[in-house]
Amino acid sequence: MPKLLFLTGSLRAESSSRAVTRALIEALGDRATCETADIAALPHYNDDIKNDAAVAALRDAIGAADGVVFVTPEYNYSVPGVLKNAIDWASRPAFDSVFKYKRCFIVTVSGGATGGVRAQSHLKYVLAGMMALPHPGKEILVPFAGKKVENGVFRDDDIMAFAGAQMDEFLASLG
Ligand SMILES: Cc1cc2nc3c(=O)[nH]c(=O)nc-3n(C[C@H](O)[C@H](O)[C@H](O)COP(=O)(O)O)c2cc1C
Repeated sequence: MPKLLFLTGSLRAESSSRAVTRALIEALGDRATCETADIAALPHYNDDIKNDAAVAALRDAIGAADGVVFVTPEYNYSVPGVLKNAIDWASRPAFDSVFKYKRCFIVTVSGGATGGVRAQSHLKYVLAGMMALPHPGKEILVPFAGKKVENGVFRDDDIMAFAGAQMDEFLASLG
């Protein structure tokens, strides 16, 4: 069974990205083993920090995953700093990190109409810099996400069906 690691780009408890993450994991059921990374525990990137337990745990989890699934909001037309910080930690050693040739899948989330499409393309560019492999499928954007979460549960049948089909392709491609 493929192992997926979910990296969510929002730390807040009521986050719609976190709600989407939970919905995707629930929809996957027993077709994948899913874990979520705790990026809140990471220090700010500083190359002087050695042997940090949270950094080691993140790198190990990415290394062990068959695929990394990013579910992230767009902040100021790009990815949130907390997510970029996590990516930066995992990106060392340069061009030979746990992200090298790692299969990745991206879902972006937005409170507005654009669904985080700019963060989507920024993230692909960042992943290319680490020789990671973003899934070359249709882009999954979740617009107006805040309106689709009730009691922590994300509901949008159309988006879940669309995302589910793309995730099935992603799972199949992991072999
Ligand atoms: C610092 C900041 C910057 C934001 N910039 C954007 C943006 O560029 N584009 C956009 O669609 N939404 C932007 N938003 C709104 C987010 O899409 C919205 O707050 C979303 O719900 C955040 O995701 P979350 O619910 O997972 O925390 C921004 C929000 C914050 C806090």
